Amino acid sequence: MGNQPGTEDAELIISELATNAVRHSASGRFGGRFTVSVHADGDRLWLGVLDQGGPRSPHPLPPQPDEEGGRGLALVAGLAASWGVTGDDMGRIVWAVLDLAPEKAAVR
Ligand SMILES: Nc1ncnc2c1ncn2[C@@H]1O[C@H](COP(=O)(O)OP(=O)(O)OP(=O)(O)O)[C@@H](O)[C@H]1O
Ligand SMILES: [Mg+2]
Repeated sequence: MGNQPGTEDAELIISELATNAVRHSASGRFGGRFTVSVHADGDRLWLGVLDQGGPRSPHPLPPQPDEEGGRGLALVAGLAASWGVTGDDMGRIVWAVLDLAPEKAAVR
């Protein structure tokens, strides 16, 4: 993928979502796992990370002072054309759609 448009944003989003899966879901237990999916569809890239669920659920936090954290999902929301969460305590997918050609979009 190298320097394809959107690669850096895609890497950043996957990195944030995978880190969240390990930090905040049951995927972070010993032997836990998470699954990354990427689907290219024309000018759009669908990115998803499936975790192993747990009591907490993903929610973007309001802007935090300094280095307090709580920025991952806000960053994802800012980069993505759309994003969302599906699933429950048995497992959740946090997904984001990246628009690779935003200049071509009719309405921004
Ligand atoms: N996969 C997940 N499963 C359960 N809870 C989640 C998941 N991802 C995020 N969360 C919850 O949503 C909150 C916000 O996530 P976000 O990535 O924005 O911040 P953070 O991970 O706490 O900090 P940062 O990403 O800046 O290091 C988390 O603190 C956590 O409570
Ligand atoms: Mg995070």
